Amino acid sequence: MSKKAWGGRFQEESISWVEEFNASIHFDKVLIEEDINGSLAHAGMLAAQNIISEDEYSQIKAGLLSILEDYNKGQLTFSVSREDIHMNVEAALIEKIGSAGGKLHTARSRNDQVATDMHLFVKKEVNAVIQATEMLQQTIIDLAEAHIDVIMPGYTHLQRAQPILFSHHIMTYFWMLERDKSRFNDSLKRIDLSPLGAGAISGTTFNIDRFQTKDDLGFEGIYHNSMDAVSDRDYIVETLSNISLSMVHLSRLSEELIFWTTDEANFVTLSDAFTTGSSMMPQKKNPDMAELIRGKTGRTSGHLMAMLMLLKGLPLTYNKDMQEDKEGLFDSLTTIKGSLKIMNGMLETLTINEAVLEAAVNEDFSNATELADYLVAKGIPFRDSHEIVGKLVLTCINQGIYLKDLTLEAFKDASEVIEDDIYNILSPKVVVNRRVSYGSTGTESVKQQIEVAKNHM
Ligand code: ARG
Repeated sequence: MSKKAWGGRFQEESISWVEEFNASIHFDKVLIEEDINGSLAHAGMLAAQNIISEDEYSQIKAGLLSILEDYNKGQLTFSVSREDIHMNVEAALIEKIGSAGGKLHTARSRNDQVATDMHLFVKKEVNAVIQATEMLQQTIIDLAEAHIDVIMPGYTHLQRAQPILFSHHIMTYFWMLERDKSRFNDSLKRIDLSPLGAGAISGTTFNIDRFQTKDDLGFEGIYHNSMDAVSDRDYIVETLSNISLSMVHLSRLSEELIFWTTDEANFVTLSDAFTTGSSMMPQKKNPDMAELIRGKTGRTSGHLMAMLMLLKGLPLTYNKDMQEDKEGLFDSLTTIKGSLKIMNGMLETLTINEAVLEAAVNEDFSNATELADYLVAKGIPFRDSHEIVGKLVLTCINQGIYLKDLTLEAFKDASEVIEDDIYNILSPKVVVNRRVSYGSTGTESVKQQIEVAKNHM
């Protein structure tokens, strides 16, 4: 049995499988850089405040830096009996430099230490998520601009509704991601806070300078209450929630890609690199990446629920339950970063089947609203025109034709006011470009929208 950092008041030996259950080193080792940076700032402050000597500080600093080097070279071994990253690093330090290493933990607890590590880590990761989000937003803008004129069916209830520009459709996801980005950015206000110096719960008797460590670690703000500092996990809930919603957005887009690539729609084709084949059916090309993003969305929502349940009923301040805040969060961060990257790759390499979309919008009733609006412009009340057009649609369905195939005579039978300019009005391109309201699908509106979007980048 290795000697425990807290071994003094214990008489019985520990049991290895209990240690295994208790330990977090398997997953919290990813915090090593943050842990060492936190310790460097803490030791520097202790020296500046004459709590340890300059010489002790130099030894601690050199020791910590060489531990990080060992880690990066794959030469640092962790032990389960040291429980977590904090005690593994401290033990390695004492092993390296001897008694000066034992002074590092002066005026500090693992409670403020783990909180500091996590704040630093979540801040770094959320910034990475923001970057990955922007990358996808840029790809969406590029896609929209490259295919600005492509018309496709717009749906409500998954039934053909009105023709729209593909660029308008895809830009919707730009705005969802824009809200995600803004939520992540806003959350940084609450992530970017220093808990260091809170001690175990109540602060410390040593004359520490919490503002110095806050500045050294690059934190924007500080916790004003030591108990809040060690027990707050709101920023983790918030991050999990922001990830969950962003994953829901990616899942909706995935679902559209899955639908668009069916044989039934065939609107787009995904690059081979982002699809897989079937072990049995030679013809298959499956949209696995999109399906996986859709599937992983369940996982990230689950991690959010787990974190909320973890905190419910937890009294102040630190409770070991809180060690359970990590695996779900780490997994969610890996998942969102991976999903954003995969989605970006899928969109960058996607082929839009323009001929299929062209045929699709010419062979449906998505121009019916246009005909109704045409009648209204000629003085017919909308409710009457709705009825007239509905009957014409029914006639077409019965004859297996579309509105554009009706003779002028048939149109006139339905309403005298219809002239032969109606054929032009019914063409999908005209339908789309007659939409001139702000934020609409008309080409000019979409170009304007893209310009506004670029200002958000
Ligand atoms: N491994 C612990 C965690 O992740 C570190 C803090 C432990 N503090 C304590 N007093 N047991 O939460």
